[in-house]
Amino acid sequence: MAKPQVLCLIWLSLVSLSLSSSVSTPNPKTQLQSGTGEAHQELIKYGFPIGLLPTDVKSYNLNRTSGRFLIMLGDTCRVTLPPDNYLATYNKKITGKIVESRIAEIDGISVRAFFKWWGITGIRSNGQDLVFEVGMLSAKYPSKNFDESPDCEGRRTSS
Ligand SMILES: *[C@@H]1O[C@H](CO)[C@@H](O)[C@H](O)[C@H]1NC(C)=O
Repeated sequence: MAKPQVLCLIWLSLVSLSLSSSVSTPNPKTQLQSGTGEAHQELIKYGFPIGLLPTDVKSYNLNRTSGRFLIMLGDTCRVTLPPDNYLATYNKKITGKIVESRIAEIDGISVRAFFKWWGITGIRSNGQDLVFEVGMLSAKYPSKNFDESPDCEGRRTSS
């Protein structure tokens, strides 16, 4: 007659699981996402969503006059971009030039498509959509797909 007890245990652990997950993220929409910082806030000021940058930002440097920036990540970083699950990589060092609604001369971000790696050279924002420029080509995606800063994949977090 152990079955009801086992079921009861499973049910209890499910309940505590869902309780603990709801406790750890009380207001996901209103709170600053953990792992994001000043560099991500800077993106918002320039009209971009924070999801363009992974969470693993070690430092950033921005010259507000020229718009030139330098971002250092903790390590090279691989993420899957929504919604088409393109694989993207970030170098440890990312440079470029940012002005309102436009990032240009990007160096350090590549995306995998058509069996090749392409460097993303520019990103434009019109509030609703982001337009990614890869050389002469461009692709448009809704900005809301980038509301969350992605965690880097395939790397163990050292704790
Ligand atoms: C920022 O950029 C401007 C314009 O290019 C330049 O004159 C200035 O020296 C730069 N400031 C720093 C701190 O690099």
